[in-house]
Amino acid sequence: MIEIYGHGGDVETAAARYGLHAADFLDYSANINPLGPPAEVKEALMQGWKEIIRYPDPGHRGLKRRLSDKLQLGEEHILVGNGAAECMALLLQALRPETVGTIEPGFSEYRTLAIQFGAKVDSVYGRKDKHYRAEISDIVGLMERVQVLFIGQPNNPNGVQYSLSDLEVIAKKAEQTKTKLVVDEAFIDFIPERSRQSLAPSLGKYPEVIIIRSMTKFYAIPGLRLGFAIASPEIIRAMTKKQVTWSVNGLALLAGEACLQAQPSYEQDTLSLIAMERTRLMDGLSEYGFTVCPGEANYLLVESLAPWTAGTLQEAMGRKGILIRSCAMYPGLNQHAFRIAIKSTEHNLHLLETLGQIMEGQR
Ligand SMILES: Cc1ncc(COP(=O)(O)O)c(C=O)c1O
Repeated sequence: MIEIYGHGGDVETAAARYGLHAADFLDYSANINPLGPPAEVKEALMQGWKEIIRYPDPGHRGLKRRLSDKLQLGEEHILVGNGAAECMALLLQALRPETVGTIEPGFSEYRTLAIQFGAKVDSVYGRKDKHYRAEISDIVGLMERVQVLFIGQPNNPNGVQYSLSDLEVIAKKAEQTKTKLVVDEAFIDFIPERSRQSLAPSLGKYPEVIIIRSMTKFYAIPGLRLGFAIASPEIIRAMTKKQVTWSVNGLALLAGEACLQAQPSYEQDTLSLIAMERTRLMDGLSEYGFTVCPGEANYLLVESLAPWTAGTLQEAMGRKGILIRSCAMYPGLNQHAFRIAIKSTEHNLHLLETLGQIMEGQR
């Protein structure tokens, strides 16, 4: 397996293992917008690189102003971070919970960060027949036992959302138990607005809710790092106190402002490409006999067909220059589970063809 740091996107490890150059891999193990960053970001970075001789704005004011406009939310509700991951770490540092709840399978950093900051982790498990959504009664039960609960919306690696009414039940319970409810919406931009199930518009009603979003996936800037949290001013102030000054670099701030000024066609093109290619990949993988979880985000959780496991398939694909994300190590999944990103038509055709050849060779 190549997930030695616990995540996909590790082309350096893959290069060492498969004897290819890191830049030559077709990386289906990280879920990044196949269109690449908007033209506005490229322009801002070309113009803005000269600014690296200055310190970045420690108050992130330009970007906060734009986020405030976009989200229709006061700036006191917003914290800009060095990726969604930093926002999660700041929250745990600010709250110092003794117990953290996770819903498995889920993004491994919830657990990793919780342990890193000294908390005990308590989990409930998604049900396979519910596409790995957990029972709401189990989640509500977990909230009686933990001070912070992480929930992925849509969840990684399965890509499914909880309905808004389920989220409201969970948020109301959080008000009762005083559990801080962290809703990780890192991938929600990949879901068309009409289908998004988000508590963001009703944040005022739920002071225990913290929403975390990433700008690295939708805007394809994971190397720059950028994310933000929205929550009550009190929580935002507590998180800000824990943030290292200048942790968000100047180029990321410039890029972030440019992302929010991207032409509307960038979003439309992304959403229609993802929708079309999701169908292609789901159909193609099902034809090979794989089981595909009907996720709504820009990635798919797949179950391989015996004798293939995620590990043997990853190895065979890796040698052909395609990286897939083994999910065998996720609590609640088995050795057959893997995840692939949804990419461009050309690349997806190549992925399906390569997979076909590999499976043909096995027969
Ligand atoms: C569900 C989820 N949340 C958050 C993150 C971290 O995002 P960022 O790159 O903004 O730190 C990831 C990264 O893979 C993720 O999968």
